[in-house]
Amino acid sequence: MHKEKSADLAGWRDAQATRLEADFRAARAEHRQHHAEAFETWRRRNLNLPSGKENDMTVNTLNDLFIETLKDLYYVEKKLVKTLPKMAQKASSDELKEAIESHLGETETHVRRLEQVFELLDQKASGKTCEAIEGLIREAEEVMGEIADEQTLDAAIISSAQTVEHYEIARYGTLACWAAEIGNSEVAELLEQTLEEEKAADEKLSEIAEDAVSQRAAA
Ligand SMILES: [Fe+2]
Repeated sequence: MHKEKSADLAGWRDAQATRLEADFRAARAEHRQHHAEAFETWRRRNLNLPSGKENDMTVNTLNDLFIETLKDLYYVEKKLVKTLPKMAQKASSDELKEAIESHLGETETHVRRLEQVFELLDQKASGKTCEAIEGLIREAEEVMGEIADEQTLDAAIISSAQTVEHYEIARYGTLACWAAEIGNSEVAELLEQTLEEEKAADEKLSEIAEDAVSQRAAA
């Protein structure tokens, strides 16, 4: 009888210890969670950061995709501000040189317009490496490096510049369309302005190319 009683007591003590241990763990987990939330609130307020992982942003919504594409284009335009002067320098015909230089001026405006778009969307203007433009420019440089004949080099420059223009036209067309879908007409308008200038630059390059073709045919 006495033995049974002490066994009961030991069992009761064990059960109590297990329960206390479980309670303690739960309280500790809750405490940690509370601290994590408090820290996150502080971090957002004081460091002015939108969410946890800024660098590996997950794209879930059309809005996310819009921002990602905007960063891609920002990278492209800034890259072109550096690349276009080199292309103009290599061009032989004055008409081509002038067309590229005038598009350089427009490209600087395109960078500023994208900055305005970022601002309208309360986003920090930042670029994200665009592998497509890197590839197009690398290819253009390779081709240009192999050509000695001036007229052929001009034809290669026009071809490369138009490939880049078409990439930009596709991107701006898509972004302008999404901006309208998201309901931001101010952003859509800015993107459409640039889109029109890209199209005009492309048409100008086509004209120069056609003139060169007729000149070669006449020669
Ligand atoms: Fe542009």
